Amino acid sequence: MVKVKDIKANVEEEMKVFEEKFRESMKSEVALLDKITHYIIKRKGKQMRPMFVFLTAKTLNGKVEESTYTAASLIELLHTATLVHDDVVDDANERRGFFSVNALWKNKIAVLVGDYLLSRGLLMSVDNKEFQLLKIVSTAVREMSEGELLQIEKARKLDITEDIYFDIIRQKTASLIASCCAAGAASVSDDPAMVQKMKRFGELVGLAFQIKDDIFDYGTDKKIGKPTGNDIRERKMTLPLIYALNTASKADRKWLINVVKNHNEEQKYIRKAIKKVVESGGVKYAYNRMMQLKDEALEVIRDIEDNEAKRALIGLVEYTVNREK
Ligand code: IPE
Ligand code: IPE
Ligand code: MG
Ligand code: MG
Repeated sequence: MVKVKDIKANVEEEMKVFEEKFRESMKSEVALLDKITHYIIKRKGKQMRPMFVFLTAKTLNGKVEESTYTAASLIELLHTATLVHDDVVDDANERRGFFSVNALWKNKIAVLVGDYLLSRGLLMSVDNKEFQLLKIVSTAVREMSEGELLQIEKARKLDITEDIYFDIIRQKTASLIASCCAAGAASVSDDPAMVQKMKRFGELVGLAFQIKDDIFDYGTDKKIGKPTGNDIRERKMTLPLIYALNTASKADRKWLINVVKNHNEEQKYIRKAIKKVVESGGVKYAYNRMMQLKDEALEVIRDIEDNEAKRALIGLVEYTVNREK
């Protein structure tokens, strides 16, 4: 299996410069804020988004440009802001194997820290006069908010379909990964068709990425560094559950809906529901859909000339669906 380490080797220099820029971009004179951003930086994630930005640029251009660095930093800042907010929204107390910001400092502070990170990212881009980048990324930010709200709407009504599920994950997750590849392309190319093509590639990867994340939630693996079973608890009906509901007997369907509706906070019920979903083949189904999307993504970039960066980019796509956290 491809390891992140091997993929990272291809963008090692770029990631070093990025990390410095990223760290610098969070600094604040306010001691409390500085303490929290330090906490966040120490517990970094997989950094897949900056890698998508760099590898897209290098695939098309052989090297990155100044504006590629700004794109990578802006997007990782924004991603970090989203996670800090998301853990408030999902009432989750663990992130990247440690306490989440809201768990340690409470919701109020987490909301403000998320806003701070977002504003720092936007300001960095304005300071560098990166208006095309701002347009690409602001569109994604809008979509992410819409996606999260659509998800909440559906969690209230419990009337989700597979089509709506795909709308939600396209907005809340795939839009940002699409913007990684679009921005990476735009940083080295003036060809709008190429930017569009890479955006579509990123979107397909992003859909597969979120399905993988939703499959994790049906597992019990501690390695992933965040809670499992949280989606049912939050009444999030993701692909494994949607499939189970569509294929279950009437009685099973009724039971599952009842758990999501009335017993979603009870660990015992959640575990039983997860078991039922797995037995229904829901996870397997989600896995197959994810693999299809991955193949579709690779198909989009098939005609792009082969080079080392492209091979690493393909590796990163494979990693997206094979990763263990
Ligand atoms: C988590 O993203 C949020 C989702 C969109 C599912 P990542 O899995 O990329 O999180 P980190 O940055 O590696 O922690
Ligand atoms: C990702 O969805 C939402 C974001 C775009 C941040 P999840 O709520 O499933 O993400 P995790 O599982 O908490 O990382
Ligand atoms: Mg969450
Ligand atoms: Mg999740």
